[in-house]
Amino acid sequence: IEKGGFPHFMLKEIFEQPETIKNAMRGRLIPATGDVRLGGLDMTEEQLRDVKRILLIGCGTSWHAGLIGEYMIEEKTRIPVEVEYASEFRYRNPVIEEGTVVFAISQSGETVDTLAALREAEKRGARCMGICNVVGSTIARESHAGVYIHAGPEIGVASTKAFTSQITVLALLALVFGRLRTISSSEGQKIIQALMRVPDQVAEILTMHEEIRKIAEEYYHHNNFLYLGRGANYPVALEGALKLKEISYLHAEGYPAAEMKHGPIALIDENMPVVFICPHDNAYQKIVGNICEVKARKGKIIAITNEGNSEVVEMADHVIYIPRTLDFLYPILAVIPLQLLAYHIAVLRGCNVDQP
Ligand code: BG6
Repeated sequence: IEKGGFPHFMLKEIFEQPETIKNAMRGRLIPATGDVRLGGLDMTEEQLRDVKRILLIGCGTSWHAGLIGEYMIEEKTRIPVEVEYASEFRYRNPVIEEGTVVFAISQSGETVDTLAALREAEKRGARCMGICNVVGSTIARESHAGVYIHAGPEIGVASTKAFTSQITVLALLALVFGRLRTISSSEGQKIIQALMRVPDQVAEILTMHEEIRKIAEEYYHHNNFLYLGRGANYPVALEGALKLKEISYLHAEGYPAAEMKHGPIALIDENMPVVFICPHDNAYQKIVGNICEVKARKGKIIAITNEGNSEVVEMADHVIYIPRTLDFLYPILAVIPLQLLAYHIAVLRGCNVDQP
């Protein structure tokens, strides 16, 4: 467990992501039929078909992964999904019915809130699974079954590579359940082809490392940031804001872009940098309107988007391009620039990046 020539473990782990995302998929894809094999679930096809409701529980970045998983699984399987803060779930009186499966998402597999929530769900008869990184961790051992994300040791306190591997595993989960319900073999093949391209696309985004450092140089003296996204990119906005908060002690808030007019818009001025996650997905035209609103209030705009989105390029002060992929896979790509932005702002502010 060395830094491998990187100044911080966090930066090393950010750059490991092309490999770690590959490892999350290794041996689990069946491109020929558009299927995914997750043996660790230890459930027959009939048991998988009988699942009526899915609960995703976690804390911090793992909770954000769950929010993205909700979009993926509901869209691809039509199974109702709820995401709960483990720290809330453990103290309230949750409803667990027949056919409910609970996935505890935890990189360390030791977070006490998540372990307590898992035990609470188990007590109420739910089938409990772990989505963990550390093999043999308490949550992994106490779950009935589960899926390891194989991201390797994550030393940086601010989770990066574990997050993208959690989302990758949740995409695989959506395919496992989806292929037994609404996803055809050909659509499954299309999704698998797109998934197999993600590691190289992440590597391509990482080549913009220096460009993102220059953007950080322009903004590291600001004290407040707003991150905005729509759909599955709203949890990416939450994650980008959390990364910045966790390691640079700046105030940053993630918000659904559509909700900005109901309050946060009052905060926008030239001192409030606004990061938009706005790839060319099904919400693109709507989020262009939100960018106009920020522009009208002299907000400084940093946009994460795709080549060719001229409306965004005209309005944004800085544009970071990400490759095109399927709408529901954009979160894996869109978070990479936000990890690098948070890292460089923290370094420029002299913060202890690995142990905030
Ligand atoms: C927090 C960390 O303490 O725990 C976050 O700062 C992390 O980065 C959260 O996401 C949950 O940890 P885990 O190991 O359960 O995923």
